[in-house]
Amino acid sequence: MSDNTISLSRWLIEQERTYGHIPGSLRLLIEQVARACKRISRAVNKGASTGILGSAGSENVQGEVQKQLDVIANDVLLEANEWGGHLAAMASEELERIHVIPHRYPRGEYLLMFDPLDGSSNIEVNVTIGTIFSVLHLADGVSEVGPEHFLQAGRQQVAAGYCTYGPQTSLVLTLGHGVSVFTLDSEQGSFVLTQSSLRIPALTQEFSINMSNMRHWAAPVRRYIDECLAGQDGPRGKNFNMRWVGSMVADVHRVLQRGGVFLYPWDKREPERAGKLRLLYEANPMAFLVEQAGGMAIAGTERILDIQPETLHQRAAVILGSNEEVALLQRYHREAS
Ligand code: AHG
Ligand code: MN
Ligand code: MN
Repeated sequence: MSDNTISLSRWLIEQERTYGHIPGSLRLLIEQVARACKRISRAVNKGASTGILGSAGSENVQGEVQKQLDVIANDVLLEANEWGGHLAAMASEELERIHVIPHRYPRGEYLLMFDPLDGSSNIEVNVTIGTIFSVLHLADGVSEVGPEHFLQAGRQQVAAGYCTYGPQTSLVLTLGHGVSVFTLDSEQGSFVLTQSSLRIPALTQEFSINMSNMRHWAAPVRRYIDECLAGQDGPRGKNFNMRWVGSMVADVHRVLQRGGVFLYPWDKREPERAGKLRLLYEANPMAFLVEQAGGMAIAGTERILDIQPETLHQRAAVILGSNEEVALLQRYHREAS
């Protein structure tokens, strides 16, 4: 590592000095999460050579078949974050109930939520997957932590981020003062700062949606995509490109880096469900990052970060990315409602 390299640890300490109100316990909590992500990254890199690909033969609370790596990543995150003394409880996409910190460890003031392994369907095909996490503050004066304490609107998040396991392992993080990107130097075993104050380009010509669901979409989404597809000859007057990795971390990472819009909207397949993605583990942390990078994140007409959660595993429609595109989609939703 050269002398001017800024490690995640140094960056966190400098943030604390710059914005005095970042508590030391939050800094240490982020370091624990990053450490867990490094372990997951190593497991992902070894892949089939250690026999950890494929199904775990179980189902999670959402009724999805769990992959071995879903279970491993979940266990790594629980184990790494249990003993540090910074948390009161954790909630995971893979756990039906919250995981309260056992009495043998000191209890901290934060709540951690995560999607341990995002993009599970891409594990076996060696395509980028990741971990998404979100941190909330536990309300003062709570003696027994319950799931209700996790039901805070996304705007209350004190930190959020994700880690991608792809050609590079990148950690993308916000503590509410912009977005920074760290890249894992696997020889040194540490995350180094590679981008600060990340901004989503406002103008873009790229959209990201699973087009195979087109016939199930609501009218405003259809209208927007139809206009993109019409290209130069249509109302938008320009050609659009399309990308869909199928791992939210990878699709959102691309949107953060080069602009565009990512959509997993409500659709008619399961009309009583708000969307496919989970509010607490996927929509909220990504919405926080996107807004911190100057973009927008909505569920239709409503800002994602303003949704009041009612249950732990609740779903949300997700439309996020470059300002102008998301604002247009919001206008189409308002006009339709
Ligand atoms: P997970 O692997 O955590 O269950 O999340 C998968 C999600 C998300 O990563 C991705 O954007 C979306 O599912 C893809 O869904 P489709 O297969 O319906 O395109
Ligand atoms: Mn996911
Ligand atoms: Mn997952």
